[in-house]
Amino acid sequence: MIIILLGAPGAGKGTQSEILEDQLQTVHVSSGDLLRDHRKRGTELGKIAEDYMVKGELVPDNLVIAMITDRIAAPDADHGVLLDGFPRTLPQASALGDALSLKGKMVNSVVYVKVDNETLLDRLSGRWTCRNCGHVYHEKFAPPKVAGICDECGGELYQRDDDKRETAMKRLEVYFNQTSPIIEYYRERHILCEVNGEQPIELVTNDIMKCLS
Ligand code: AP5
Repeated sequence: MIIILLGAPGAGKGTQSEILEDQLQTVHVSSGDLLRDHRKRGTELGKIAEDYMVKGELVPDNLVIAMITDRIAAPDADHGVLLDGFPRTLPQASALGDALSLKGKMVNSVVYVKVDNETLLDRLSGRWTCRNCGHVYHEKFAPPKVAGICDECGGELYQRDDDKRETAMKRLEVYFNQTSPIIEYYRERHILCEVNGEQPIELVTNDIMKCLS
């Protein structure tokens, strides 16, 4: 199965992917996590991506497409992939389709997690992420047991540099201008299922599972 989780910044794609990865036994491939890892390791790609990410802009298509097609060609992705944050533009959607069809595969399902703008900004400004295992918390909606410490691994929690209000607003603008057209792209191909992402986390998961069955 090739599944895409689609939604605005803060819609809950990462949160749901972490749960679904276990339930579906697929590999979670997050373009944002891969880019942040490149930045941490100081690779050429990481250095280029940093300029775009801190401004809330999209990293150029050719770089992201190469990174993702490489990742999904790895042997652990043979049995299924859950894509989070990719594709984000029409050229990325088209390149993904081409790369999959070369291997006799296709996108099986696209789940669009829909959340209102006000809620998105609340979620981004209250998000805390574990530096060690990447588990995501929210100070109001999904708090850790001890502030600043990850329940899963005891790692330190931090706030992403692109979650500052001004950058978050830019990311939402970029999403509506550049990413939302791919909702129609997949709707026209009859593989899009829409889920109400404003519900509690468990209920969103249940609705996504219904879409996938
Ligand atoms: P990326 O890392 O992909 O960020 P994003 O899409 O903006 O998504 P987020 O990670 O912000 O949100 P999410 O939907 O995963 O929400 P989460 O589960 O954390 O991209 C970052 C940057 O990298 C981009 O700006 C761009 O520069 C670059 N990039 C990445 N991919 C690219 C691409 N394909 N092309 C070009 N550039 C690319 O949840 C958010 C918060 O809400 C958390 O605190 C969580 O606890 C809480 N929460 C989640 N669900 C619920 C719920 N149901 N109820 C209450 N709270 C909830």
